[in-house]
Amino acid sequence: MDAVLDYRTIAVAPRPSGFGAEITGLDLTRPLPADVLAEVKAAWARHGVVAFPDQPLELDVLEAFTLSMGGFGHDPYIKPMAGRPNVLELRREPDEKATNFGAGWHSDWSFQAAPPAATLLHSKVVPPVGGDTLFVDACRAYEALSPAMQRMLDPLRAIHSARQAYGSKGVFSRETEKRTLQIVVSEEADAALTHPLVRTHPVTGRKALYVSPVYTVGIEDLTPEEARAILGFLFAHLTQEEFIYRHKWREQMLLMWDNRCTMHFAEGGYDGHLRLMHRTTVAGEVPV
Ligand code: SIN
Repeated sequence: MDAVLDYRTIAVAPRPSGFGAEITGLDLTRPLPADVLAEVKAAWARHGVVAFPDQPLELDVLEAFTLSMGGFGHDPYIKPMAGRPNVLELRREPDEKATNFGAGWHSDWSFQAAPPAATLLHSKVVPPVGGDTLFVDACRAYEALSPAMQRMLDPLRAIHSARQAYGSKGVFSRETEKRTLQIVVSEEADAALTHPLVRTHPVTGRKALYVSPVYTVGIEDLTPEEARAILGFLFAHLTQEEFIYRHKWREQMLLMWDNRCTMHFAEGGYDGHLRLMHRTTVAGEVPV
């Protein structure tokens, strides 16, 4: 476990694996002094997913804190809140039957040339059952592979696309159930680009598997059958229990995760209950 004493201005309680941590001892409703912000950024890079409990944030404050982490990311295919172009309201009503948003393993917007470094999610209404968010530690999953497998994967480039979700024939284009979240399917989502299959974290220098079942659709230079076999192995490897952190929400909690070294999955199981979150992203860099 990481030493809590490493931090001078905040209290950081990591999970035993070091993946995921709770940060207390700060008030996010006020702008953070530079030394506090630097420690928050260090803890986020070190632990991948950080939770700030008991932070009743108004939207202006959520936006300001997001900006203090970097510029806003670009969130495509979903209508933002009115008057808040950089905030998504993830609202699922008690009577909604459509699958909850985010119910597939993914790293946010990995089909973009420079996908978001961070995603921030603030809980306004948490259902009494279900609604957990699961995270995979993609660094530890990479490090657990044999050196021979790592050497094989290191030079590969994975093909990412939004097509399976938001494309003209994607899952959302076929949806018939009512959904409060307004999703905009588009032919643009059928496009694809490549990223290193193993990416290096710009702060920690650790390598991470950078593939996901929702957005990775192939591997450059491999046949579809070869890519399917390797990706199938990697998806099963990544989603083993030992690499997963199950985040349980409490109301007025802010969660910030690092899309460069994690993937996540929003679990359902709360039909009949409202779940309401506000979400922003922080711009990232081109993966290397
Ligand atoms: C997501 O951003 O994928 C949604 C996560 C959640 O609602 O728990």
